[in-house]
Amino acid sequence: SCNAVKTTKHAVASNKLCVREDDGTFFDKEHPHIFIILGASGDLAMKKLYPTLWWLYRDKLLPPKTQIYGYARSKLTVNELKQKCQNYIKVLPKETSLLEDFWKLNHYISGQYDSRSDFEKLDQELKLHEIGTVANRLFYFALPPTVYEPVAYNIKHYCMGKKGWTRVVVEKPFGKDSESSKKLTDHLASLFTEKELYRIDHYLVKEMVQNILTMRFANRIFNPIWNRDSIASVLISFKESIGVEGRGGYFNEYGIIRDIMQNHLLQILTLVAMEKPISQQPDDVRDEKVKILRAIKPITIDKTVLGQYVGNPNAQGESVLGYLDDPMVPKDSTTPTFAETVLHINNERWDGVPFILRAGKALNVRETEVRVQFKDVPGDIFGGKAKRNELVIRVQPGEAVYVKLMVKSPGVAFDIEETELDLTYSRRYANVKLPDAYELVIRDVICGAQMNFVRSDELEEAWRIFTPLLHHIEREKVVPINYQYGGRGPKEADELAQKYDFLCN
Ligand code: NDP
Ligand code: BG6
Repeated sequence: SCNAVKTTKHAVASNKLCVREDDGTFFDKEHPHIFIILGASGDLAMKKLYPTLWWLYRDKLLPPKTQIYGYARSKLTVNELKQKCQNYIKVLPKETSLLEDFWKLNHYISGQYDSRSDFEKLDQELKLHEIGTVANRLFYFALPPTVYEPVAYNIKHYCMGKKGWTRVVVEKPFGKDSESSKKLTDHLASLFTEKELYRIDHYLVKEMVQNILTMRFANRIFNPIWNRDSIASVLISFKESIGVEGRGGYFNEYGIIRDIMQNHLLQILTLVAMEKPISQQPDDVRDEKVKILRAIKPITIDKTVLGQYVGNPNAQGESVLGYLDDPMVPKDSTTPTFAETVLHINNERWDGVPFILRAGKALNVRETEVRVQFKDVPGDIFGGKAKRNELVIRVQPGEAVYVKLMVKSPGVAFDIEETELDLTYSRRYANVKLPDAYELVIRDVICGAQMNFVRSDELEEAWRIFTPLLHHIEREKVVPINYQYGGRGPKEADELAQKYDFLCN
């Protein structure tokens, strides 16, 4: 009786739903779905969630019978919500009436996060839309982590769906260290099953991050050389060209290691380093990721460089503010806005190969990439001119995979030079629109595809690796090295990478 469509992957290219047959998850087109945004008055809801829900609605990628509920303490109407989102929702002139239809699916309820009666009221409202025998509820925590616990409790006790699945989406940060993360995990685990929980790491759905497994395991050429015999070092780097503008309060409490490295970069590392999973099923992939994490020892301060940006006149001669100039940041803050660290994986494939993680705000470019540097060619016959091969996976911007390699210089003279085998997506796939990460995240939750969400054991291992370093930095008040807004970051970071066999250009 159910006309559910089987799917997990969904290319948004050409507005079609690409259905894959072998992944065991469902896009239920028939039954009512209610999407509840908790913290609907906030930054994430305005800037990301409402715009993403609109895109999905526009592209017919939401289940047809979807209703959207905003919930927060602020007393707002849907109309006010609409105004608040206006600057973030992109709409073509021909789509304006469709956008009106989208807003008709929206509702808003004001309530406290710790009030039983408010959640009971929400439950009563949701029931009004749950016509028929099956209906599903998706709760999205767009909230500060301080209120996760009461909200989770109230959902479990007063607001679970009675006619279908209830899924709970949680945004990072998942705690501040091993202990606080365990407390949160235990609390959520006492209320929900792992199958009901979706911990977001939006980097996992970025096109080129997803491509890592395909490139490694659907090609013959990489696997035989993907090990300590051929690879000298790996750099996984995240650079942003803006500072913490507008988020200084949050950032100062967490810092760059918790904001980017312990989650996004470590997740990328697991995909680069893991063994081939026995299938593409979410738990088979996540089992392999956990194995890699378990083989990594906690990182140490002697293999780490920390930085903090200071103001600097930009190219136009206007001055830009340093981190400490942010009104939300204490003047004596030692929170790092840049970090680089080196870790090693203690297994047969990777023994001795340094994995360098680098993350920084207010740098010269916005760029996230993986660089795999191969060892020098043994038995040189080119007078030392042959440079190392390097495989670069550019996650953003300008998705690309390219390999630096040596060729004979074209022409009469016999010389050699470095060039690139270049697969730049905008050229090769010019007509394909790559979806936004949040579109994929939300679609995956609706379909029940958990591969790109963080399992509790992955999270525990990630905190085990980083907690001693974080505690050391905080206990000893380690002073970060100043670097200029818009620069390359501390020169000590390049020196550290070089020391660990990564040759910087
Ligand atoms: P906000 O600070 O905007 O908070 C969201 C809403 O929560 C607010 O509108 C407010 O609603 C309520 N709220 C805020 N502070 C408190 C408080 N101390 N006690 C109770 N309620 C409070 O957060 P964001 O939207 O920026 O982020 C939400 C979650 O998403 C966080 O976990 C964040 O780390 C994560 N995240 C955010 C990103 C972003 O770009 N913003 C990116 C990635 C993750 P009201 O007062 O109406 O109840
Ligand atoms: C978030 C961090 O997780 O990722 C932000 O909290 C960062 O500090 C953002 O700016 C970067 O995401 P993206 O998708 O813009 O690269």
